[in-house]
Amino acid sequence: MAKKVTVRTLQKMKNAGEKFSVLTAYDYSTAKYLDEAGIDVILIGDSLAMVALGYENTMSIGVEEMSIFTRAVAKGSKRAMVVTDMPFLSYTTDIPSALTNIGNMIKLGANAVKIEASNDYIEALIKRTTQMGVPVMGHIGFTPQSENVIGGHIIQGKTEDATEQLLIQAKKLEKAGAFSIVLEMVPETSAKYITENLTIPTISCGAGRYCDAQVLVSDDIFGKFSDFKPKFARKYGDMKSLILNCAKQFNEDVKTGKFPSEEEIY
Ligand code: KIV
Repeated sequence: MAKKVTVRTLQKMKNAGEKFSVLTAYDYSTAKYLDEAGIDVILIGDSLAMVALGYENTMSIGVEEMSIFTRAVAKGSKRAMVVTDMPFLSYTTDIPSALTNIGNMIKLGANAVKIEASNDYIEALIKRTTQMGVPVMGHIGFTPQSENVIGGHIIQGKTEDATEQLLIQAKKLEKAGAFSIVLEMVPETSAKYITENLTIPTISCGAGRYCDAQVLVSDDIFGKFSDFKPKFARKYGDMKSLILNCAKQFNEDVKTGKFPSEEEIY
């Protein structure tokens, strides 16, 4: 069996100049196939609120729902590192309840957690979480859980000053013990500068080509989710058409009596 991807594997890859891949998964079978395909990190992103549950935004999902999907994905992943997104309000109110919520995700099979933002509280939380034995992936730039404060889906780090601020935030997360940092919706030049000035790997989510890794939402690359498509997402397949075709054929076969056939009955 292939060796499990760990924080050490990812750090070694950055040090060797090798890129790693991150995709989201929300269910057992998808996680199994991503693992089989060689994806290095599988993220149970809180994007599942919109993509799998049809909610309006990521703030609508809670710990109970994230727990169900975390358990399913962890069951399907053997080699890939499993990282679960801590949902809105599950880690920001106080450190003791954050540690309990984080610990429970590890009990369900996650290998690490992802938390958004960089401030004094988040740094303290990262320190305590890693002390507890749980690796933390940071997430800065555009942070969807703070969308209302930011004022929309707005590119971050557009000026030199803003880039310096992002680097300061990233360095603080690194110092606190984060093992990697997602940079979301950041100009490529800013992301390159931040990546070159950090020891830990950066993961681009719409932050260009020079990060140490790339993350996308799997339903975007499969062409399954069709409500909207971010500029940075690449569609590798057309699952929407596949599902429509299968469902239409089944519908027709049922109605014309072609299903079930002789071989499909007891
Ligand atoms: O929720 C999510 O899927 C994410 C990634 C796309 C970074 O946070």
